[in-house]
Amino acid sequence: MSSSQASWWQSAVVYQIYPRSFCDANGDGIGDLPGILSRLDYLAHLGVDVLWLSPMFPSPQDDAGYDISDYTDVDPVFGTLADLDLLLAEAHRRGMKLVLDLVVNHTSDEHPWFLESRGSRDAEKRDWYWWRGPRDSMAAGAPGAEPTNWASAFSGSAWQFDEASGEYYLHLFSRKQPDLNWENPQVRAAVYRMMRWWLDRGVDGFRMDVINMISKDPRLPDGVVGSSGFGDGSPFYICGPRIHEFLQEMYAQVFAGRDAQLLTVGEMPGVTVEQARLFTDPDRHEVDMVFQFEHVQIDHGVDKFHPRPFRLLDLKASFGRWQAGLAEIGWNSLYWNNHDQPRVVSRFGDDSDRYRVRSATMLGTVLHLHRGTPYVYQGEELGMTNGVFCTIADFRDIESLNYYAAALAGAGSGAPDDTAVLAALRRMGRDNARTPMQWTAGPHAGFSSAEPWIAVNPNHRTINAEAEYADPASVYSHYRRLIALRHEHPIVALGSFTMLLPHHEQVYAFTRQLDGEQWLVLGNFGAADVAVPLPDAADWAAAELLLSNYPTAPQDAPAELGLRAWECRIYRRAAPAGVSSATG
Ligand code: GLC
Ligand code: CA
Repeated sequence: MSSSQASWWQSAVVYQIYPRSFCDANGDGIGDLPGILSRLDYLAHLGVDVLWLSPMFPSPQDDAGYDISDYTDVDPVFGTLADLDLLLAEAHRRGMKLVLDLVVNHTSDEHPWFLESRGSRDAEKRDWYWWRGPRDSMAAGAPGAEPTNWASAFSGSAWQFDEASGEYYLHLFSRKQPDLNWENPQVRAAVYRMMRWWLDRGVDGFRMDVINMISKDPRLPDGVVGSSGFGDGSPFYICGPRIHEFLQEMYAQVFAGRDAQLLTVGEMPGVTVEQARLFTDPDRHEVDMVFQFEHVQIDHGVDKFHPRPFRLLDLKASFGRWQAGLAEIGWNSLYWNNHDQPRVVSRFGDDSDRYRVRSATMLGTVLHLHRGTPYVYQGEELGMTNGVFCTIADFRDIESLNYYAAALAGAGSGAPDDTAVLAALRRMGRDNARTPMQWTAGPHAGFSSAEPWIAVNPNHRTINAEAEYADPASVYSHYRRLIALRHEHPIVALGSFTMLLPHHEQVYAFTRQLDGEQWLVLGNFGAADVAVPLPDAADWAAAELLLSNYPTAPQDAPAELGLRAWECRIYRRAAPAGVSSATG
C-alpha cells in the first residue's frame, strides 16, 4: 500500500476508555458517560484520534458489561442515550472519533432473545443459541453429561443445564453469557440491523469482542483434555469454518459504502499471523485490523495464572513475526494494555519509584514505533501500575473470583492456603487494569466523590494526571510526544520495519524506512547500562537524536551507542544508498 492510498486509521492513535473506572460524575462510585464528557479536553490535549468505549449498554454486569441485555440503549449506571449522543457530538467537535464495543459472540442470559429462547424447546428463538441434550444416553444434569467436555474461559464447564427444558446451553464465558448461534441467519440479520442503528446514530465503528469465536463447528466435537480436567474446545470455535464468510457478510450488510470513515478492529484470541493477514487484507473486506494475543501470552505457563518469567527474546521474535507477516498485506494493531491485561509497566517494565517513569516511557516508545495502529489504555499514559489487592475480598472480576473458587475447591478440608492463588491473581488478574483512573492526589484519586466500586491504588498520591499534565518529564508528556510524532512523520505509520539484534537479551532495536529516510529505535529492557552492538553504531551515534526518555544527551564514546537504565532513543538519518524503501 503506498502512502497515497493510506487509510486514516494508519496514522491514528486509539484510546480505550473503561467507563466503569474512568470518571464518576454523579458520585455513586462508578464511572459514567458524563464523567467521560468532563474529561474530553484532557483526551484532546493528549492528541488521540479515536476513543473506544468498553460496553456501556444495559447489563446485569456479571462480566462488567460484556454481558449485554439490550444492544440499543445505555445502562442507567452509566447514563442515558442522550448522554451518549452528547458525548459523541462533543468528541466529534474536538476532532475525535468514537468507537463502541460490539459484543455479539454472546448476549446476557437476561437479554430478551435468550429469555425467549429458553422459554421452551420449541420456542421461536430456540435456535438462536446453542441448545443440546445430554451426551450419549446419560441422564440430563448428571455429572459428566454435558454435551461436550469444553471448559468455559471463566472456569468450569462451558455448558449450563436448564432444568425447565432438560437441555444445556453453551457459554464459552460466564453462565450469564450464552453464546449466540451464528449459523442461524435471523441472528446475523438482527446483529447487522443493530450495528446499522448505531452507525446511523453517528458512531465511527466497532471494536468486536472475541469476534473470531462466532463460527463454531456445528458438530461440537470434544476437545483434548488438559490439566483442568476439561477439554480444549478452541480448535472448534477459534476461527471456525464460516468465520470469514460471516465477517464478509457483515461488511456487505453494515459497512459497505461507508467504511472509509470507520474503524473496525476484531478482538481475536488465538489468531495466527496467517489468519490475521486474511482478516485484514483490504481487498477481502472483513476488518481493518485485529487484536492478536501472542505477545500478551508470552509470560503464560500452562495458563495465565501460572505465569513464567518474561524473556525479551520471545517478545522480539513474536513482534518480529507479526511485523513481517503483515508487511505487504494487512495491518497490525499495537497494544500493551487493555481492560483484560495487567499493567505493562508492572509486567514488562519496572514499577519501582526509581525506574517506573523510564521503563513506562521506553515501553511506550518501542510499541508506538512499530508499524501498526497503537492503542493506549486509560492510565497507561500516566504509567499507572498494577493494583493493590490484599485478600480475595479486594477482587471484583468474575474471572479471578471463579478461578479462586475452583482452585480452592480442590484443596480439601481445613482452612485452605490461598497464598499462591492470590499471588497469581495479583500478578495476572484483570482487576489490575480496572482500578480507578488516577486524576489527582486527592481523595479517591479525583475519580469520584464517593468510595469507588474497586479500590484506588494508593500510589495515586504521586502518579496522577494533575501532576503529570504539565511536567515535560512525565509519562504523560512522553506519550503526547509519541502521538504527535506519528501525526507529523508518515514514516511512523507507513515506513517499512526491520528488526535488528534479534538475539540480544536486553536491547530492543529496529529501523523504520520511508522515502529515503531511516529511523533507528532503541529500547533498553533493563536497569544495567548496555552497549548496542550495531555494525554502523558510529554512524547512528552521529545522527540526529529525535526523541529519548532522558533529559540530557547521551555521553557515548563517539564511535559507539550505549543505553542507560531503561533508556529509549529514536535517531534519524538519510537512508544509506542501496537500501530499498519498501512501504509494504
Ligand atoms: C473479551 C473481553 C473480556 C470479556 C470477554 C467476554 O475478551 O475483552 O473482557 O470478559 O471477551 O466477553
Ligand atoms: Ca457514576
